[in-house]
Amino acid sequence: MRGFWLLVHVLGFTLWLGGGIATMVAGISAKNFAPTERLRSYKLIGAIQRLLVGPGAIAVVLSGIVLSMPYMRSGDMPGWLNLMMGAGVLGALAAVGISVPTAAKLGRLETDARGELPEAFQALRKRQILAASIAGGLGLIAMFAATLGKG
Ligand code: HEM
Repeated sequence: MRGFWLLVHVLGFTLWLGGGIATMVAGISAKNFAPTERLRSYKLIGAIQRLLVGPGAIAVVLSGIVLSMPYMRSGDMPGWLNLMMGAGVLGALAAVGISVPTAAKLGRLETDARGELPEAFQALRKRQILAASIAGGLGLIAMFAATLGKG
C-alpha cells in the first residue's frame, strides 16, 4: 500500500507545482494582451487552479498523512520529514484557501463599460501573486526537505 500512497503523493505535488508554474507563465504572458484577451487568459488560469492545483494540494496532504503514520507511531520523526510536513501543509492551505478561490474570482471578471479591466482586477491579481508565491515557495521547501534534506 505504501507504493500506492507514494504514487498519490508524487502525482499530487506534480499537479500542484506544475499547475502553479503554468499559472505563473500564463499570467506573465497575458500581461501584453488586450483587456478582453487578458481576462480570457484568467478563465484558463482559473481552470488550471481548480482542476490541477486544488486537487493536487489536497492529494499531497492526504497521502502525506497516510505515509507519516508509521513515523508517528514509532515517534521517530526526522527533521526533513517535519520540515516537509510543516511547509507542505501550510503551502496547501495557502493554495486551496486563497490561491484557488482568488483565481476563480479573477476568472469571472468581465471588462467594464469602456472595455477596460474592471476595478477589482489589480487587487485580485496582487492577492493571487502573493498567495500563489507563498504556496509554491512552501511546496518547493517541502521538495528540498524530501530530497536534499533527506540526503
Ligand atoms: C508540496 C509538498 C510536498 C512535497 C514536494 C513532498 C515531497 C515528497 C517526496 C519527494 C517524497 C519521497 C521521499 C523518499 O521516499 O525518498 C515524500 C515522501 C513523504 N512525504 Fe512528502 N512532500 C510534500 C508534502 C508532504 C506533507 C504535507 C506530508 C505530511 C502531512 C508529507 C509526508 C511524507 C511522508 C510521510 C513521506 C514518506 C517518507 C518515507 O517514508 O521515506 N509530505 N514527499
